[in-house]
Amino acid sequence: MNKVVLAYSGGLDTTCCIKWLQDKGFEVVCFSADLGSEFSPQDLRKRAIKGGVSKIYIKDLKEEFAKEYILPALGASAIYEGKYLLSTALGRPLIAKHLVGIAKCEKAGFVAHGCTAKGNDQVRLEVSIDMLNPKLKVIAPLREWELTSREQEIKYAKENKLPIRITKEKPYSIDKNIWGAALEGGSLEDLDKEPPGNSYYFFKPPREIPDKETYLEIGFQKGVPIKLNGEKFDLVDLIERLNKVGAGCGVGRTDLIEDRVVGIKSREIYEAPGAWILHTAHKELESLVLDRETLYFKESVSLKYAQLIYQGLWFSSFKKSLDGFVQNTQNAVTGNIGLKLYKGNIIIAKRFSPNSLYKKELATYGEGDKFDRKLAEGFIKLWTAPYINAK
Ligand code: ARG
Repeated sequence: MNKVVLAYSGGLDTTCCIKWLQDKGFEVVCFSADLGSEFSPQDLRKRAIKGGVSKIYIKDLKEEFAKEYILPALGASAIYEGKYLLSTALGRPLIAKHLVGIAKCEKAGFVAHGCTAKGNDQVRLEVSIDMLNPKLKVIAPLREWELTSREQEIKYAKENKLPIRITKEKPYSIDKNIWGAALEGGSLEDLDKEPPGNSYYFFKPPREIPDKETYLEIGFQKGVPIKLNGEKFDLVDLIERLNKVGAGCGVGRTDLIEDRVVGIKSREIYEAPGAWILHTAHKELESLVLDRETLYFKESVSLKYAQLIYQGLWFSSFKKSLDGFVQNTQNAVTGNIGLKLYKGNIIIAKRFSPNSLYKKELATYGEGDKFDRKLAEGFIKLWTAPYINAK
């Protein structure tokens, strides 16, 4: 019998996938990656077994996610289309990597996923799988099966006695991990309406956020955030703490019309409090310690880096090349950034670095000025020279 390893989330789609694949004659093994979702491993295991699979692998991948995926993206200051810190997109290559590994252990020739034909995730998973093991065949039931609506899937699940939670119509499609939550669908598809109150996932709507200032200090070593208010934390713990604090202050929510890989524009709400706090602090520290040309060049690298994450090219050699540049820039990124969180705003309160390139004696307009004013005139003449008479 052909064996398939299915990337299983425990939701309606992948639960239906189990039965559908079995009906096509496959032995199904499931794999669930825990990147910080709200489902417990026990619950997932129970549901998969009830759904008829003989075996399920559940892996807590939060640490690998933080160190190998989030950290490079943070170092590269990767933001997609100005508002998305790539929580979902960063998780997919990691899931693909483990899916491929399990397929090898299980001697399975097939892997399957529950992504739709319109989304980015099918691209990210399949591109990654193909790069890691081109011999594996991928099955995407949602692109082929006859179930074209949620109602039909529920009917199919009920007829086949599959373990699904029949909740009230879920208002949105949500994907969450430690780096953020993404919400789409439902009334968010109507662009002429403000996102409703129930689209606030991590946090409260702005009017309910307490009128209180919260101070934080983040310590970085070579680009890696290692301390919060002077205390050391491992990365997962740090992100989770910042998610909590940030959500309480309403920071890190964005509303984006984004360009999907498959050419569709869609609207997504992102809530990523910890990610935005770290990103803001990290960028601030870079401004202090990196020279002008490196900073300017890094802007274009950041843009490309974000696009390649979004477009599923994590395992490309292009990414490795960009990593080379980014890693070198991070050697200087050591120091502390103080932030004040207040009603949805992240305000810079303090900057310190042993590698600071800021020289107060040159910048000051007050006492202690050491800037040689006589140099300015000649400098301006030389600076202008190449442009004079240029047609
Ligand atoms: N649009 C985002 C991306 O492609 C998030 C996708 C998952 N979103 C969701 N709400 N299920 O990375």
